[in-house]
Amino acid sequence: MKKVIIRKTEEIENWRRNTKSEINLIPTMGNLHDGHIKLISTAKNDNSNINLVSIFINPLQFDNKLDLENYPKTIDNDIKISFSNGADAIFIPSNEDIYPPNNKNIKFLKAPKELSSTLCGLNRVGHFDGVCTVVYRLLNLIKPKNLYLGEKDWQQLLILKNLVIRKKLNVSIKSIPTQRDFDGIPFSSRNVHLSKKTKEN
Ligand code: PAF
Repeated sequence: MKKVIIRKTEEIENWRRNTKSEINLIPTMGNLHDGHIKLISTAKNDNSNINLVSIFINPLQFDNKLDLENYPKTIDNDIKISFSNGADAIFIPSNEDIYPPNNKNIKFLKAPKELSSTLCGLNRVGHFDGVCTVVYRLLNLIKPKNLYLGEKDWQQLLILKNLVIRKKLNVSIKSIPTQRDFDGIPFSSRNVHLSKKTKEN
């Protein structure tokens, strides 16, 4: 099967219509690490579905503008990593594709308060609303059979499981145990900014 990179929402909808197999979706914000590799390769080995990795830095889930600006952008490497670990296709939409201005059909969701107002949600106001909004948008565009998520982001996993039930979405969530570095710290796109010293503390 020819590996493809898709950038536009119309293209992804066409691609999905013409795709004969079911789809595994592995959503990411890029800056891929061993945790993502595990998700992509597990999805590949799980079934004979088509493996689609999405790479989109979702501005809605950053409560801090500086965090968004500083988020590592490593797209060429992400493409290489995805294809060499089992992606059949990669979706790299722009902001305008995911959130077209003036499009009244885009649903901006709220995560349930009881799940989102503790732990990470305490200090990251609106973060899980942004996660729900983008994942709901991706699921509606792609209509995958399976959605692969890491257990590292446990609260996100619970909130997205709840979203699937609440919205009666026809997708199975497959969760994958946390992958850790040799020092025991979970692989994370944000942890690349941690120095060796900070990790030790
Ligand atoms: O876990 C992440 O990388 C993001 O929150 C996700 C699920 C790709 C949504 O932007």
